[in-house]
Amino acid sequence: MNILASPLQIGAKTAPNRIVNQPMECNDADDVGNPSELTFNRYRKLAEGGAGIIVVEALTITRESRARKNQLGIDEKTAPTLERLLKEMRGMNSKPLILFQITHAGQLSGADFSRHVSVYPLPGKQTHILSEEEMDQIGDDFGRAALIAKQVGADGIDFKQCHGYLGGEMLRPVNTRKDRFGGSFENRTRFFCETMAKIKKSAGSSAFLLGARFSVYEGITGGFGTPGPAEVIEDLSEPLALVRIMEKAGVDYINVSAGIPAITPEIVRPTKNYPEGVYRHFGWAQAMKKQVRVPIIGSGYTYLRDGKNDLKEPDPGKKSFLYWAEKNLKEGICDLVGIGRQSLADPLFTRKILEGRSAEVNYCIACGSCSVLLRNQAKVGCPIYSESYKKLLKEVQKIRA
Ligand SMILES: Cc1cc2nc3c(=O)[nH]c(=O)nc-3n(C[C@H](O)[C@H](O)[C@H](O)COP(=O)(O)O)c2cc1C
Repeated sequence: MNILASPLQIGAKTAPNRIVNQPMECNDADDVGNPSELTFNRYRKLAEGGAGIIVVEALTITRESRARKNQLGIDEKTAPTLERLLKEMRGMNSKPLILFQITHAGQLSGADFSRHVSVYPLPGKQTHILSEEEMDQIGDDFGRAALIAKQVGADGIDFKQCHGYLGGEMLRPVNTRKDRFGGSFENRTRFFCETMAKIKKSAGSSAFLLGARFSVYEGITGGFGTPGPAEVIEDLSEPLALVRIMEKAGVDYINVSAGIPAITPEIVRPTKNYPEGVYRHFGWAQAMKKQVRVPIIGSGYTYLRDGKNDLKEPDPGKKSFLYWAEKNLKEGICDLVGIGRQSLADPLFTRKILEGRSAEVNYCIACGSCSVLLRNQAKVGCPIYSESYKKLLKEVQKIRA
């Protein structure tokens, strides 16, 4: 059996294989944040696809400040529908571990339909700076959301620290708040540590996985992965220290990502504009893995496809998803490989790959259409392989033209 198909123990649970469906928000919840029929269809298909782990997209812990108009929510009102979602997914396939990514949008909250907030002042932008008390309250809300995730039957949660949302905002050197949440590295990681303690208190048990996803390097001045508020050159000192802190705080796994989709998308999602971005993701995962014993999920694998990509590797056999996934797992670069856009293009990707049916995969062409839909607050899917999303994309483009 190849290593991609082999199981992996994570905390007290076992992922049946090494492919992770990364969280992919699709903005198709109903008006209060419940999964809609579209959401149900997407996740039933993903369950059928048989990834080892399915991370359900960013669920907002509050409607008050959120990034997407129709974002899925996790609260007392949505709990019954989330429970049904999990039941239906498990009805399709009981094997994958199903985690809920829980988030607060912070400075990426949509001002048109929710309250814009930030951890620190943003030059030229009207926003509400969260007080220390409000941050404590948000931490409590994360604890409550984790408890709901547990009660409705998720296998665990992914505490979102990546891609520029509140958790990631806190960590940046440019967060020079003068209270206990800003300035020193200890202060900037305090929200993570205190909130993880709350999550553990409300939902912690060996059978409920706690994990986190973060952006190693954001590519902005004073962003995470730089050495100071006015610096932009990559410096991994803080990310390396952060994963050690995460492990000490009790996470069962760490999902290593990078960049901020709204500002530095090419770092988050490699495309033909910079194919070598995939190698940077491999390097970041490897560097983090050396620091900790908990499993590491690597990101940015979609662009590799079946080797039809623009990497400057002369041997086509040495530049496909399958080649790199196997190689990185074997060499201990990471423990699981995550696919994002590819899971929208073909939710059955894992099953096809593990059954040796790579030729049948609808490969993602990394065209960015799914991101165009998301940025425009439309419902998200793959316009290349789905007629309804193709139509939706055309409508969005017409409005923008
Ligand atoms: C439409 C869309 C929605 C996304 N939603 C999320 C999300 O909810 N949470 C998250 O951590 N990352 C999200 N991402 C980032 C992906 O999980 C992934 O990190 C990124 O697409 C790079 O991986 P890939 O090369 O396999 O696509 C999203 C990306 C896209 C394009």
